[in-house]
Amino acid sequence: MIDEILSLVDKHEEWRGKKCLNLIPSENVMSPSVRRLLSSELGHRYTARDRFYMGTRFIDEIEEYGEKIAKEMFKADTADLRPLSGHIADLIFLANFSKPRDTFMCVSPEDGGYPGMWNEGLAGLLGLKAVAFPFSKNDMNIIVEEAEETIRRVKPKVVVFGASLITFPHPVKELAKIAKEYGACVGFDGSHVLGLIAGEQFQDPLREGAHVLLGSTHKTFFGPQGGIILADKEHGELLKSKVYPAFVDNAHWNRIAALTLALAEMKEFGRSYAQQVIRNAQTLAKALHEYGFPAVCPHLGFTRSHQVILNYGGYEKGRKIAEKLQEANIIVDCAVRIGTCEVTRRGMRESEMLKIAELLKRVIFDREDSEKIKAEVAKLCSEFQNVKYCFDK
Ligand SMILES: Cc1ncc(COP(=O)(O)O)c(C=O)c1O
Repeated sequence: MIDEILSLVDKHEEWRGKKCLNLIPSENVMSPSVRRLLSSELGHRYTARDRFYMGTRFIDEIEEYGEKIAKEMFKADTADLRPLSGHIADLIFLANFSKPRDTFMCVSPEDGGYPGMWNEGLAGLLGLKAVAFPFSKNDMNIIVEEAEETIRRVKPKVVVFGASLITFPHPVKELAKIAKEYGACVGFDGSHVLGLIAGEQFQDPLREGAHVLLGSTHKTFFGPQGGIILADKEHGELLKSKVYPAFVDNAHWNRIAALTLALAEMKEFGRSYAQQVIRNAQTLAKALHEYGFPAVCPHLGFTRSHQVILNYGGYEKGRKIAEKLQEANIIVDCAVRIGTCEVTRRGMRESEMLKIAELLKRVIFDREDSEKIKAEVAKLCSEFQNVKYCFDK
């Protein structure tokens, strides 16, 4: 039994870790030191705010250290590393600033909003009435004037910016003020773009009027998988007092240690990483567009994030494209979103983006033999096995 389990993981590591071109925008790679901390002794331990457990002195110091870096980096009054995922961070936020039958606004899943927040997800769970931001698919953004009108009409208790498909900064500056005038609590779900916000290359939601910035720590951020909440004093302190006992008890302290180091990496290397992620996405989008791929928003320069979106008009066609690429060990999702976060962290730059665009073209348009492409993908990946933008040499 043990051999089978170990062998499955080994096979996965060999395939996804070494042979595949990983272009999923919700994924990234951790540095060797962050990975080490994730499997450290802390993974066996408990700590609690009321000091119920003995033996926690180092764990508590690590958490404090991580919170300190996070507060400085995001210029937030409070930071909470305990949410076990971006989804749980969303739950903590929505559950504490709304009550059943309240109205809340976010980007609809049809327009690229996070489905986990919509009716089948948290809105349904919490009994909220979800109202979609008016959205332009052509510009991949919220339509400001219409959104103002909707806010006036529905008077939402909570407004959440951010989305799963996000190529351009959302108009927080333009809309937060009016949402607040009508009594809303304003959040920004930065799950996808947290690393770009940390590197000061996207937008700065807390300065633009959001009360709370929340999200995952492993998409554009440097991992491990988990969640984070950053906020102003009033909202942050309230949330901190509610995380336990309602939402998270054991925060998985090995994860907190790994996240603390990931935060330190981001503080040191985040700016140059985020700049390169965006340059790579723009280069890749332009090259794909020139080959004839349906990259969205050519009139806006395609993207200002880590995502390049290819519009195949739905998951059915998208899945066919994604499956075809998978045959050649090029991994994307069915949206079809292509992310440059992981390949950038592995050290790839503009010239590799041109190569990737060419590989995609040869799979999809030229229908070249996938075994031949696979060999080229493996060669490209073998040259970029080390994680960059970290303290490890
Ligand atoms: C905008 C957004 N928020 C939240 C989540 C959930 O994040 P997690 O996987 O960390 O729970 C996702 C997942 O992809 C997302 O796209």
